[in-house]
Amino acid sequence: MMIKKNKLAIYGGSPTIKKKLPNRFLYTNSEKKIVNKLINDSIKSGIPFRYSEYYERLYEKKFIKFMGGGYADAVNSGTNALFSIIGSFDFSEGSEIIVPILTDVGGVTPIVFWGYKPVIADISKCSFNIGLDEIKTKITNKTKAVIVCHIGGEAADIIAIKSYLKKRKIILIEDCSQSHGAKIKNQKIGTFGDIAFFSTMSSKLHSTGGQGAVIFSKNKSLIDRVKSVSDRGKIFSKEKFTGNYNFLGINSNLDELSAAIGCIQIDKLKKIIDRTNYIGEYIKKKLDKMSVTMNVGKQIKDTKNVYWFVRVSIDLSKIRISKSSFCKALIAEGIPMASEYDYNPFKYKWYKSKKTLSIAKSHGFDLDRNTTPNNYLSLLKTDFVIFVRESFSNKDIDLIIKALIKVEQEFKK
Ligand SMILES: Cc1ncc(COP(=O)(O)O)c(C=O)c1O
Repeated sequence: MMIKKNKLAIYGGSPTIKKKLPNRFLYTNSEKKIVNKLINDSIKSGIPFRYSEYYERLYEKKFIKFMGGGYADAVNSGTNALFSIIGSFDFSEGSEIIVPILTDVGGVTPIVFWGYKPVIADISKCSFNIGLDEIKTKITNKTKAVIVCHIGGEAADIIAIKSYLKKRKIILIEDCSQSHGAKIKNQKIGTFGDIAFFSTMSSKLHSTGGQGAVIFSKNKSLIDRVKSVSDRGKIFSKEKFTGNYNFLGINSNLDELSAAIGCIQIDKLKKIIDRTNYIGEYIKKKLDKMSVTMNVGKQIKDTKNVYWFVRVSIDLSKIRISKSSFCKALIAEGIPMASEYDYNPFKYKWYKSKKTLSIAKSHGFDLDRNTTPNNYLSLLKTDFVIFVRESFSNKDIDLIIKALIKVEQEFKK
């Protein structure tokens, strides 16, 4: 039997993207060289490398320069970054912290460990990010902080949120883990809130090895306090340990090996985000011109997004099949994508586990049961995401567009 040239891969035709798209090649000989140097120096001197030494200080300095000034503490994961941030504020027991429904579980669980109540806010319409309207409906006289997560490389409406929270003296924490270097009005995200954190585990836009994170603030006293909490409660004077442990803390120090990798990675970041921005904008422009089945959602004015992925929304009234069949056809064509971006931390068992319930009870609050906000639910019905990697060539991106068009044409009403 002859197979039609343009037959969909899902029906046995040839996929548009025949060869797997390239991996990131995030690490190169530069990372190898610095890691070798650290080990060789240690062999030569007989002194094992530790933490809070030369490379961590250098990495923090470079990160601060990237952010345009401020203060930083490099730690060993995004989850522990948030743990240290939350622990550094002396909120009263049972205080409420507003969090988005769509985030990583590590962007929420530290709140519970410290005995505070996570209050779930919906994402705003046509966006993956929490919005001001949704935050407003969740504010009570117990609200002490709001965590705004910039999902997938897209900046949230942080200027409006900041101005609203500032008037009410509510702390704004930015989770920039998926959006290193995104900007609004030429100002980097992470500089709007009181304090911010950036996970730097290896799938993020720049990394400190397998795991890691940076906490950033323009406020020195906030970072000083975070540094104490993230190093077992130590008290420092002029950067030197005084011998006293005054706070309840954990050990979330970044080790020198990871910091050394970070020193190389941060120098690559600008190039990486320029490329992911180019790829994301290119795909979005093509989508805008495509017939009807796909269109992108809301983008905040004057933003430069860095596209960890591109959101695509399907107008289901214009196709003949279900969203899931449509996505299966796209995947079969070789598009690097996920049919859903369903990262709701509250749908998992931990949230209703005995431990979580007992922490809540002992701190005098009930868990928020609003685990299915409307905008989030409607988004799951229509949206999918195309993953962006800086290593994609222009030819690769054109193949992605070609595959989208092929599937769209087949299933258009
Ligand atoms: C938005 C967001 N917040 C927090 C985290 C937690 O960071 P980590 O995995 O470094 O603990 C992640 C995931 O990696 C994330 O994507």
